Amino acid sequence: MTQDEMKLAVAQAAVAYIQPKLSRDSIVGVGTGSTANFFIDELAKIKSLFEAAVASSEATAERLRSHGIEVYDMNSVDQMEVYVDGADEFDGRLNLIKGGGAALTREKIVADVAKEFVCIVDETKKVDLLGGFPLPVEVIPMARSQVARELVKLDCMPVYRDGVVTDNGNVILDLHGLEIEQPEALETQINNIVGVVTNGLFARRGANVVLMGTPEGVETLTC
Ligand code: A5P
Repeated sequence: MTQDEMKLAVAQAAVAYIQPKLSRDSIVGVGTGSTANFFIDELAKIKSLFEAAVASSEATAERLRSHGIEVYDMNSVDQMEVYVDGADEFDGRLNLIKGGGAALTREKIVADVAKEFVCIVDETKKVDLLGGFPLPVEVIPMARSQVARELVKLDCMPVYRDGVVTDNGNVILDLHGLEIEQPEALETQINNIVGVVTNGLFARRGANVVLMGTPEGVETLTC
């Protein structure tokens, strides 16, 4: 089974998982990335079963609309049944690193509103210790150098993601060399640096369930 076949399988599993929770007035939060794209294409097949979606990026909004799914502005939504998104890494406690696609801030905002966060991944994303994937940090552009100097104190190497501008008009620093023993504490610590918008650790609000694609089928992981 290829990686894309595993992504399709978890996308289909996610639709099967959320379908019984949906009603005609449900809002579905939708993530960003290649796995989320498979999910969007599958979600379109049940679009008559829910009211609308909220998108975590401009790219996702465009793909949802291309399927005829209505996309609501986040500010007009006060409750959301479920948020479905991929991840770059996850650990046994369902803490995540996200933001490989630079959509981390909007992803975190949408995830925060949802009653349930369903994470869809293939088995290559599973790790014992987070940090092998460089941790993305979204930064206000004028603060980039100062934030990088502060981040070096965490014993990591910040690398500017050259040429990338987020949907919010900011830049990304990717933190290499971290071994993240305490994800929740590090998430808070990085967010407290002046000039940081958010970071890609999803520990304070991790996933409720991970649907993991393997060559043998989709595994459902909770903790
Ligand atoms: C987007 O910013 C990310 O958080 C994605 O959810 C993450 O990078 C997973 O992407 P893939 O599904 O493409 O691996």
